[in-house]
Amino acid sequence: MGKIILTGDRPTGKLHVGHYVGSLKRRVELQNSGEFDDIFIMIADAQALTDNADNPAKIRDNIMEVALDYLSVGIDPAKSNIFVQSAVTELTELTFYYMNLVTVSRLQRNPTVKSEIQMRNFETSIPTGFFTYPISQASDITAFKATTVPVGEDQMPMLEQTREIVHKFNSVYGETLVEPQILLPDNKACLRLPGIDGKAKMSKSLGNCIYLSEDEKEVKKKVMSMFTDPDHIRIEDPGKIEGNTVFTYLDAFSNEGHFAEYLPEYANLDELKAHYQRGGLGDVKVKKFLNNVIQEELSPIRARRKEYEKDIEGVYEILKKGTEVAQERAAQTLSEVKHAMKIDYFEDPEFLSEQIKKYK
Ligand code: TRP
Repeated sequence: MGKIILTGDRPTGKLHVGHYVGSLKRRVELQNSGEFDDIFIMIADAQALTDNADNPAKIRDNIMEVALDYLSVGIDPAKSNIFVQSAVTELTELTFYYMNLVTVSRLQRNPTVKSEIQMRNFETSIPTGFFTYPISQASDITAFKATTVPVGEDQMPMLEQTREIVHKFNSVYGETLVEPQILLPDNKACLRLPGIDGKAKMSKSLGNCIYLSEDEKEVKKKVMSMFTDPDHIRIEDPGKIEGNTVFTYLDAFSNEGHFAEYLPEYANLDELKAHYQRGGLGDVKVKKFLNNVIQEELSPIRARRKEYEKDIEGVYEILKKGTEVAQERAAQTLSEVKHAMKIDYFEDPEFLSEQIKKYK
């Protein structure tokens, strides 16, 4: 059996550098490693609607944005299928059957769902579709028989829930579905990149994101305004690294090559950190370095985006083709699922002969 990747993002806004270091960069590396037989990257619009039912225009607006973000980071449509979730209707059908295998209390214990319910102040008015989205996510993954799901740490409970559904399905109906593995970033700083204000999460509503599609000037402005150590007032004061956003970003983005190129007085990040902690190193110098590092990473992404923006019809075709491939694959799995459950009455010749025998 082959190695297959399935992953995706909700199209609720443009993708930012947190998405990039947390998952997108890894996807591109995996894609280019040649180790995978099939790669599916999903724009999870149906999932996004589970808590945006009253605002479908927002989701619609971001389909193309996310597709452009994917292509500009280097997802290559010749190697990966980019597709739109809602267009693969087999996924919702799978969800309906999987729902029978999951209890309400199990969903209530899902830590991601729990914290999202709190964040959105749903309290008792949780939309059923939102509450059950972990089950729909299991459909997304299993429909493609994905072996590998590269995502951020926040998706761990979803993968656990998926594996439980696979177990349950296979034990009740016979070996049909594939158990997926999660693939997290190895760099700890990439697990959850903070916002530029130092808050734990980058979010559009907090206005603390650096977007992949932002121009050079805007990115520089944001880097130069980043949260550092509030007690590091004069250059000669010793500074703190922990909770210092600029250093967290350097952990996520920088390598020794960057030092050789932009800051040759230091061999590596450890030396820079040591100087900062001793005192005598100003925030502006560190921020300027970080800006160089981030610009180097983002400038080819921006350039590729410009090219794709000139050919929106072409991007539309990429999405359409990717969705066709995905739909075919999901239909195959759905038919295996229905066969395993013995509810494929019109494809199963035994059904009719059984009934004839019964009524003879
Ligand atoms: N829940 C993911 C997010 O919020 C998006 C997603 C939907 C997904 N289905 C998936 C990710 C399946 C990985 C696998 O970004």
